[in-house]
Amino acid sequence: MDKIVIQGGRKLEGEVEISGSKNAALPIMAASLLSAQSLVLSNVPDLKDIQTLSHLLEGMGVKIKNSFGTWKLQAKEIKDPHAPYDLVRTMRASILVLGPLLARTGRARVSLPGGCAIGARPIDRHLRGFEQMGAHIELQGGYVEAKAKKLKGAQILFEDVTVTGTENMMMAATLAIGTTILGNAAREPEVVDLANVLKQMGAKITGAGTDTITIEGVPLLHDAEYQIMADRIEAGTFLMGVCMTGGELTARGLSAEYLGALIAKLEEVGAHVEIQKEGIFIKAPSVIKNANVVTQPYPGFATDFQAQYMALMTLSSGVSLVTENIFENRYMHIAELARMGADIKLEGKTAIIQGVPHLIGAPVMATDLRAGASLVLAGLAAHGISEIHRVYHIDRGYEHIEKKFRKLGARIKRTKVKY
Ligand code: EPZ
Repeated sequence: MDKIVIQGGRKLEGEVEISGSKNAALPIMAASLLSAQSLVLSNVPDLKDIQTLSHLLEGMGVKIKNSFGTWKLQAKEIKDPHAPYDLVRTMRASILVLGPLLARTGRARVSLPGGCAIGARPIDRHLRGFEQMGAHIELQGGYVEAKAKKLKGAQILFEDVTVTGTENMMMAATLAIGTTILGNAAREPEVVDLANVLKQMGAKITGAGTDTITIEGVPLLHDAEYQIMADRIEAGTFLMGVCMTGGELTARGLSAEYLGALIAKLEEVGAHVEIQKEGIFIKAPSVIKNANVVTQPYPGFATDFQAQYMALMTLSSGVSLVTENIFENRYMHIAELARMGADIKLEGKTAIIQGVPHLIGAPVMATDLRAGASLVLAGLAAHGISEIHRVYHIDRGYEHIEKKFRKLGARIKRTKVKY
């Protein structure tokens, strides 16, 4: 088990190369199941979740070669359409194999993902969508047993936005008989990235990025090559980190178009932001102004920024309100930030944050991916030494986080925990 040790209080300055997006790469890798031909992907991030999914796909018979971030996946034949509990429980996004397996083989046995620190995370909208496409779904012994001779196009209206639900349905519909219309679809950029790959593979999709996506089924999909989009959540995490430590940063390798809500909020907080052709420049505010946030589906303020933003507000010059609308329990970072001197009260879904002059370094524990990231940011800004335990949560979604921050001047290192 590793821990990250930070000697806080140093300004961050310089440039950071943003890695490929975890939440685009995962559904896109699952899409390799839809065709017997090869899918070649570049800019795949080196993350724990990516390794987990590749083990899962190899277990089903997908041949995978990975050289320096370029991956070749080929599902010539799918021997075993089964996603076992011991892999799925470590990564809920494994549910993304369900749609492709049903579409390609007509059957799937996928472990129910179970909950995680941030909420129960049910998959009822996924299952209802597959049933509308003619699949027979049974839940047995913690597994989804799904069967469908041939999926049929359907009109599916999601009662509430679901990102992987939209992605699962879109993949399944590419090989269905007839046309599928997804209403109240997720508009996240990662959904658009997946649609782009599917179209490269020969799928007929219109409307990705809007709340209505139409997919006309085709008999077969073929090979494709694609570069995964940059990770907007990693980029936003670094932008907020600089706002907390002071200094200035250029985040390279992504377009700012997907960060509109966050950039507007950071300007409200007092940061100076310049949009560049291939990146974003930010100069930290001299005083961090308090500004309220409510998390929403895209293009609103992303829930995956909430924990990091809360850490920023702990250092604001006033009182701010942060309301989490997407996940019922995405507040585990509050208790850990309080250990560092933050003044946060949770009332229902809203955290009331009274800014303090500075945080004080302390040993803290990552409880989930973005909570862990918020503790790294807090440690970088705090006076004194912080230790962040259970770093494996952070490694699921951030590529070499301590190396990237060290390059910006942070005193941060990863060490082994003795016991
Ligand atoms: C995706 O999760 C992301 N993960 C999450 O990122 C992200 O926080 C989330 O979308 C929201 O943007 C990946 O893309 C791999 P949802 P997902 O289905 O698809 C409820 C990270 O930090 N719901 O949009 O699982 C659900 O409980 C991760 O990178 C149902 O009730 O999220 C939640 O309250 C964390 N029934 C809300 O909807 C369903 O069938 C939104 O969930 C599906 C979802």
